[in-house]
Amino acid sequence: MGVLETIIFIFHIHITRAMASITNPLLTPYKMGNFNLSHRVVLAPLTRNRSYGNVPQPHAILYYSQRATECGLLVTEATGVSDTAQGYVETPGIWTKEQVEAWKPIVNAVHEKGGIFFCQIWHVGRVSNTGFQPNGEAPISPTDKEITPGLAGGEWSRPRRLKTDEIPALINDFRLAARNAIEAGFDGVEIHGANGYIIDQFLKDQVNDRTDQYGGSLENRCRFALEIVEAVANEIGGDKVGIRLSTFADYMECGDSNPEALGLYMANALNKYNILYLHVIEPRMIQVWENSETPYSTLPMKKAFNGTFISAGGYKKDDGNKAIANGNADLVAFGRLFLANPDLPKRFELDAILNKYDRDTFYIQDPVVGYTDYPFLEV
Ligand SMILES: Cc1cc2nc3c(=O)[nH]c(=O)nc-3n(C[C@H](O)[C@H](O)[C@H](O)COP(=O)(O)O)c2cc1C
Ligand SMILES: *[C@@H]1O[C@H](CO)[C@@H](O)[C@H](O)[C@H]1NC(C)=O
Ligand SMILES: *[C@@H]1O[C@H](CO)[C@@H](O)[C@H](O)[C@H]1NC(C)=O
Ligand SMILES: *[C@@H]1O[C@H](CO)[C@@H](O)[C@H](O)[C@H]1NC(C)=O
Repeated sequence: MGVLETIIFIFHIHITRAMASITNPLLTPYKMGNFNLSHRVVLAPLTRNRSYGNVPQPHAILYYSQRATECGLLVTEATGVSDTAQGYVETPGIWTKEQVEAWKPIVNAVHEKGGIFFCQIWHVGRVSNTGFQPNGEAPISPTDKEITPGLAGGEWSRPRRLKTDEIPALINDFRLAARNAIEAGFDGVEIHGANGYIIDQFLKDQVNDRTDQYGGSLENRCRFALEIVEAVANEIGGDKVGIRLSTFADYMECGDSNPEALGLYMANALNKYNILYLHVIEPRMIQVWENSETPYSTLPMKKAFNGTFISAGGYKKDDGNKAIANGNADLVAFGRLFLANPDLPKRFELDAILNKYDRDTFYIQDPVVGYTDYPFLEV
């Protein structure tokens, strides 16, 4: 290229970028607490079942760094807080020294690309079976009601109802996992309070049938979640803590009779702990893989919550831009599109065609196929 052509080329790139951020609110900067994000396209937490023996593997270095951008936010796949936290094959943990060490090179690689990386910390509760539990014991849960056998193709064991005096130790596991995440180099943690796992099991009245201070009233059902938030925020600082909720969903038979009241109560109650963000799954994701019509909106939750509001679930570029422009969200998390398009923010910027995701390889154990082999744009 000659000098003039180079100048014109660079000029063209700058104009394209400037145009993209005018027409794409998703590509505008946003200040999230102490983090200066360069755009609003977040990698949603995505379980990939490729962490053999619950230990993160070297192939995750490539997977996450492919999706990292300068000052872009990434959330890890759900990561177990203890040896009772698992319910699926080859999901990672962060309760042992070995796991913490294994996360370090993954976090480093994301940081080398300028990414901001949060670890999603998780306990499945009753979404498990005795085969995943130490000594073949029953999974733990706020209830002893089991999930309908065979639901979502899984084998679910009847859970053991936690005694009231066992709950502080479980909260402590979340606190220690958050401490470990910071030790591994993560910028913060996202508490997984969504999708029918243990925190959601406490929150929702379809599951929670307790009669102690962790069950019954809305306030009591939210107590477990809020005690975890408090413990984690005290441990690592509320400015490094987010929480994910799926108030409106009923995955794993975990629904609520009044999701609007539940969501609003949580959004208000979280303000007390000054946490960084609230990440909510769109009510339209009532079925796992499709958008459905719904009378519900997360807007009241967003209005009530003082921190950053992340919305997720069924987004494409256009409605993601709309959600930002209309004030429905500060950031938008993309799951399946980001899984299949490692350079998703760039594709949005250039209005490029997207790779299609392959559902059949979401959860296979292959270290490459359906994982790090989705192609980048060729520019
Ligand atoms: C393969 C796969 C794994 C997922 N794993 C998690 C997870 O570990 N934690 C979580 O909170 N949500 C998980 N989800 C839900 C996504 O974060 C997201 O909410 C959902 O895919 C809807 O968003 P999308 O339409 O952008 O994909 C998963 C979704 C997929 C497709
Ligand atoms: C973010 O930007 C502000 C100015 O708006 C600056 O003071 C701060 O140091 C920046 N933070 C980081 C982590 O770069
Ligand atoms: C992997 O984990 C996910 C949980 O997000 C689960 O739905 C899926 O069935 C698991 N895959 C296998 C092979 O166990
Ligand atoms: C949340 O923000 C509102 C309005 O700005 C303010 O009145 C309230 O005190 C804040 N709550 C907390 C707990 O910081």
